Amino acid sequence: MRHSVSDRLAAFGTTVFTQVSALTIKHNAVNLGQGFPDFDGPAFMKLAVARAMGLNEAGRFDHGTNQYARMAGVPALAQAVARDWHARTGQAVDADSCVTVTSGCTEAFAAAMLGLVNPGDEVVLFEPFYDSYRACVSMAGATPRVVALRPGIGGLSAGFDFDPDELAAAFTKRTRAVVLNTPHNPTGKVFTRDELARIADLCVRNNVVAITDEVYEHLVYDADRPHLHLANFDGMAERTLTLSSLGKSFSCTGWKVGWAIGPERLSAGVRAAHQFLTFATCTPMQVAASAAVGTPDGLSAISELKALLRSNRDMLEQSLRDLGFATAPASGAYFLMADWTGSECLGGRLHGVGSDIDVCRSMIEHAGVAAIPSSAFYQRPEEGRRFVRFAFCKKPGTLDEAVSRLRAWAR
Ligand SMILES: Cc1ncc(COP(=O)(O)O)c(C=O)c1O
Repeated sequence: MRHSVSDRLAAFGTTVFTQVSALTIKHNAVNLGQGFPDFDGPAFMKLAVARAMGLNEAGRFDHGTNQYARMAGVPALAQAVARDWHARTGQAVDADSCVTVTSGCTEAFAAAMLGLVNPGDEVVLFEPFYDSYRACVSMAGATPRVVALRPGIGGLSAGFDFDPDELAAAFTKRTRAVVLNTPHNPTGKVFTRDELARIADLCVRNNVVAITDEVYEHLVYDADRPHLHLANFDGMAERTLTLSSLGKSFSCTGWKVGWAIGPERLSAGVRAAHQFLTFATCTPMQVAASAAVGTPDGLSAISELKALLRSNRDMLEQSLRDLGFATAPASGAYFLMADWTGSECLGGRLHGVGSDIDVCRSMIEHAGVAAIPSSAFYQRPEEGRRFVRFAFCKKPGTLDEAVSRLRAWAR
């Protein structure tokens, strides 16, 4: 049969998220798998969408903003993103030429790959990674060069590190771009100043573009691990494309409003692809987003969310340790990477279980709790077999229920 998935994409199969979600539904499991909240974002944003669609004070609809938006984004949102970027980084950017609104960060990333990377180029990725990176590198006809993040000399409790020599060796004459995700999914790592300086130095010395995925930029929990923008390091403003989106910061992952910020030269590449991928992003959502990005309402919603997530993290981390998992510190994002290989994990229920995939299947079927097998985030799946990823962007009651189900199974 000739009409099937293209060679370029066949290797990636169906994402593990789809498979875990199907099992989760089948067994009515508590879902700590996929990274989206089980609560809505702020009411003022929902109202802003309805108003953008034309809702008036009388509860009826007038003419709204329901037609195609400007290709690069609704001016009010592009300006809000540019203002917010200036306030947080000190870098003034021109909203018209340096901000491109996309359908989520995922589209921004695809557009960056298709618009800036040539077939035959190499792209450096840190592994584990958000699963769309590798597929997008492949769609661009480029080759990924993978650098491992692994538990360092301090063990998993000290977090994931990279080997500076391995990173330096990944840069070759063909390297076009390095992809950085901080705060990081799935490890919860927030890259340090020293680590970012090292990456910046390699980019400058090798004349390489940095594409940074900062969708969790606001979700950091420890004073000694602030989120730092790679674009703020020496020599990086002119070679960094910073991607982010609304979904994680405002608990509206389904809105799919994202953006790319970067110098005109790099933004031109993103736009060259964006105009043919989606052309423009959902107009009323963009208008509503402009009421949230960098506004007092938006900032207060973010600080409320951070407080909830910090407390969720503390509770889930302690509970998983009590259940025999080893965990990495989640200084940012909303995931905990947990090592299930200890002999006492879940009261010994996992003895003889061969892989992270089997662990997740058992937890769903027997405990009624879903997590994600971490090997899905690796090009070399064996690197991730020891870990499963739990999401803590949930109502406290959901986490309580998950923990009590795991405890009951472990007894
Ligand atoms: C690192 C990372 N980047 C991007 C995304 C998706 O962002 P968006 O929904 O804006 O496309 C996710 C969602 O899980 C993510 O974890």
